[in-house]
Amino acid sequence: MRDFIPARRTFLKSVGGAATFALLPAPLLLSGCQQGTAKTDAEESGLDEGPFDVELTLFARPDVTPILPGAASEVWRYTAKLIKGPDDTLIHSDDSYVGPLIRLRRGQRVRVHIENHLPEATTVHWHGLHLPPEVDGQPRFPIQPGATRTVGFLVDDRAGLYWYHPHPHGDDGGRVGFQSYAGLAGPLIIEDDHERELDLPNGNQELVMVLQDRNFAGENELTYLSDGMGSMMTRMQGFKGDYLLVNGKPAAVKKVSATAYRLRILNGSNARIYKLAWSDGRPVTVIGTGGGLLETPEERPYVALAPAQRVDLWVSFEGDPKGAEIQLINEPHRAGDMMDDGMMMGGMMGDSDNTSDKPTPLLTLAVVRPLLGRLSSDLDSLPQPDNTTKIRHFRLSMKMMRGFAINDRQFEGATVADDEVVSLGATEIWEFFNDTMMPHPMHVHGLQFMVVSRRNANARSARQLKAGIVDSGLHDTVLVLPGERVRIALTFKDFKGLYLYHCHNMEHEDKGMMRYYEVRK
Ligand code: C2O
Ligand code: CU
Ligand code: CU
Repeated sequence: MRDFIPARRTFLKSVGGAATFALLPAPLLLSGCQQGTAKTDAEESGLDEGPFDVELTLFARPDVTPILPGAASEVWRYTAKLIKGPDDTLIHSDDSYVGPLIRLRRGQRVRVHIENHLPEATTVHWHGLHLPPEVDGQPRFPIQPGATRTVGFLVDDRAGLYWYHPHPHGDDGGRVGFQSYAGLAGPLIIEDDHERELDLPNGNQELVMVLQDRNFAGENELTYLSDGMGSMMTRMQGFKGDYLLVNGKPAAVKKVSATAYRLRILNGSNARIYKLAWSDGRPVTVIGTGGGLLETPEERPYVALAPAQRVDLWVSFEGDPKGAEIQLINEPHRAGDMMDDGMMMGGMMGDSDNTSDKPTPLLTLAVVRPLLGRLSSDLDSLPQPDNTTKIRHFRLSMKMMRGFAINDRQFEGATVADDEVVSLGATEIWEFFNDTMMPHPMHVHGLQFMVVSRRNANARSARQLKAGIVDSGLHDTVLVLPGERVRIALTFKDFKGLYLYHCHNMEHEDKGMMRYYEVRK
């Protein structure tokens, strides 16, 4: 292992954290790291017969990486080793905690050996992918410390940006927020022939950006939850950090040619909703969402990106003079705040989360030389959902002192209620009604859905984000603003069994705003 692990450090400082966020003492963490190679048990699920086109080992382990200037920070991170497959399957990020970029092609048979070198149980969830339940990384299949789990699957999704992250949930709550915050998350790209024919910007003209926010204390130790009232609010609102990081680093300047670029952006934050815009006011050109390309590009004044969502942007610097600097910025907004209507809480308690009312640059693009770039208006065709009359209603509500609920229920492990059973092959409409004062990014595992309608948002939060919500295309996560009713159309194809649906505000999810649904024959 690394030989520069600092002698005295408190990993991921947490002041006054509740039991669910309790931290392990540093020595245990470090020994977990050193002895992690002992494989005490191995399990295999999904496709178990080759030949496989891609085979890799994914390690989850404690490490130390630089984030801010100065002392390096202790993190938990994914690293990977390619056993078999095309050379560009893995793009490592050695000096960042963000997991390697995994690049797969539609139709590939993939096998991943997941080794847990952490001091606690974890899982790896392939967010957005259409996979059988056993390889989906659900909390009911924990990988214990020192254990390995092998999953095999067929890549059957549209070309797009997906991601992978932990999904453990024990008796005393979820650990998704903590483990992701500690650094366990990485981007995953699926490519296909159709997309390649479109000749979108690639190579140096394709930028993958993982957006996350963090807090630091002392010598750059990551801190998760803070003290006192702030912490109560954090638990309700979800964690928001003061530092916005791009791929595990503070915002950077990048030299670009005066040509077209493709920016593929993942919101890997625990709870922050980004409002992304260009510093010079040019429209944001959206070409894709979490489920791949749109049918045709769309221009927006800005784009709202909720936790777990991805957006695919196209931008051209063709008309920009040499020396121009254009920034991708995050504009401040208060739509993620509790008591969004500005009554009580915000004023009374101060606002530890929205530290700045100024836009924060995430990436500065400095134009250096001209080239030509074009965008086709005909990107891709989308599958049309079957007609359906079945509407299932989900009311998102608050449980006093216990977080949030879906139809008054919280997570109960691998059980489903009668109204959480769907039929294999069926298409349904699900309506999420947000009966709370906070936005909830609702995520359904195992499939991509279409947003069919959105109505009745509470005026204030709608005004702040509405023009930037991209409902076209396919999605696995949809932002439901306070007061809104959002309907989605989903089809339950190919696989039977249990899948999760939940709010992807990780603190909400960890506190029980998550349920299983079951696909039955
Ligand atoms: Cu990003 Cu339940 O997942
Ligand atoms: Cu998921
Ligand atoms: Cu939520």
